[in-house]
Amino acid sequence: MLLRCGSSSSLIFYALFYLCSVSAISGYKDTDEPTIRTMNEFSGYPFDETQLHSQALIVDGENLQKQIDELATFSDTPVPSVTRVLYTENDVIARRYIKMLMGLAGLSVREDAVGNIFGRWEGYEPNLAPVASGSHIDAIPYSGKYDGVVGVLGAIESINTLRRSGFKPRRSLDIIMFTSEEPTRFGISCLGSRLMAGSEILLKALETTVDNQNISFVDAARSAGYAQEKNDLTSVFLKKGSYAAFVELHIEQGPILEDEGISIGIVTAIAAPASIKVDFEGGGGHAGAVLMPYRNDAGLAAAQLALAVEKHVLESGSIDTVGTVGILDLHPGAINSIPSKSHLEIDTRDIDEERRNKVIKKVHDSAESIAKARGVRLAEFNIINQDPPAISDDSIVKAMISASEELNLSHKLMISRAYHDSLFMARVSPMGMIFIPCFKGYSHKPEEHASVQDISNGVRVLALTLAKLSQK
Ligand SMILES: *[C@@H]1O[C@H](CO)[C@@H](O)[C@H](O)[C@H]1NC(C)=O
Ligand SMILES: *[C@@H]1O[C@H](CO)[C@@H](O)[C@H](O)[C@H]1NC(C)=O
Ligand SMILES: [Zn+2]
Repeated sequence: MLLRCGSSSSLIFYALFYLCSVSAISGYKDTDEPTIRTMNEFSGYPFDETQLHSQALIVDGENLQKQIDELATFSDTPVPSVTRVLYTENDVIARRYIKMLMGLAGLSVREDAVGNIFGRWEGYEPNLAPVASGSHIDAIPYSGKYDGVVGVLGAIESINTLRRSGFKPRRSLDIIMFTSEEPTRFGISCLGSRLMAGSEILLKALETTVDNQNISFVDAARSAGYAQEKNDLTSVFLKKGSYAAFVELHIEQGPILEDEGISIGIVTAIAAPASIKVDFEGGGGHAGAVLMPYRNDAGLAAAQLALAVEKHVLESGSIDTVGTVGILDLHPGAINSIPSKSHLEIDTRDIDEERRNKVIKKVHDSAESIAKARGVRLAEFNIINQDPPAISDDSIVKAMISASEELNLSHKLMISRAYHDSLFMARVSPMGMIFIPCFKGYSHKPEEHASVQDISNGVRVLALTLAKLSQK
């Protein structure tokens, strides 16, 4: 699927993009020379990697900031907040904007059945597995402009930067915009990348998944122009080895880089997330009439389980183990009614999968013993996802380190405690991530901010890293 034309402006970009791709294709067809010669003819001079180091990589930070600001206006809530939910009108407009920028960067654009968007700069050895970079542009309600966006617009700018430097990639470079990293609409995080990584569980779940308006995933996707063929979602799967490397640029979403005055974070591992839904059911009753010894209070069972989550997390003894009860609903939710039902959603993470799984086991045991002690029913204990952690690939880490060094940018190795599309890309490709500082570590709120300088530094490191990996 190429650009779909919903407005006259996208028509123009379609035309532009069409011209670009046609000329690129005919360029390849016209020559029988060895590919390396073709590359030299394209650039006008032989490729020399040393040209890439240092001052040759010039990022147009001001223009990139303008794009970030413009993308932020495609939002369901007013500036400075951003709300962009999967397959809504603003999401579709924002997607069109991304495809337009990819077209202007000379990338050939493709979309898969759930709307993951790929922009390719074909390398001079196009049969080799490409190198990819990308992130997401969906935004939870009332969040900020930079989460994910820096890794999409920044990656497109890294392509522009490499083009301006005269660089030609050996392996093709793909820029990817992942569908629905945030779980806002369907309760599934990293939907696009998880499916690309071949999750059969997700594939099955998507058949019955609905949003809170009872709109099915497939209907929502169709309304945005995707999933047109019935049962074609397996086409989203990527084979292992589809990419030689995947690198994601992202704001840190934590305070470490800013506190320590360091420009670049090089991610060595991404913590393993799990989420659990729990329902208790009790007898309910009148808050005045039912005396304490006769109650089966589903609300107190939930409260007790929330405290148990904290206890079991702390028992791990590691600062890397975390657990949160972010949702706690009581039914019927009246001051004079004993809760007859309660619902909790629990998030727990660790860089050590086994340690995290131990927490889940203990939480389950607690849920059962609390239910028994209070005479309520544990109606549901559903582990929604229990993902393994991801470890960055050594050679990508080395490439990111040497890129930072050649650009004279201070850097440190760190762990990503939030998870990203990279967690799932790591299942099908060697993976690495580049972090940049963000204001006070704020994220998922309107105050989220990263400076033009920090973003530009990140784009330069990304550009040089992609260049190195594409030559391998
Ligand atoms: C990095 O610093 C070295 C030595 O100070 C300098 O020669 C080089 O040009 C600098 N590179 C960049 C990209 O600024
Ligand atoms: C949701 O939609 C399905 C199919 O259209 C329908 O069968 C079901 O009753 C609806 N559920 C609710 C809660 O409205
Ligand atoms: Zn993100």
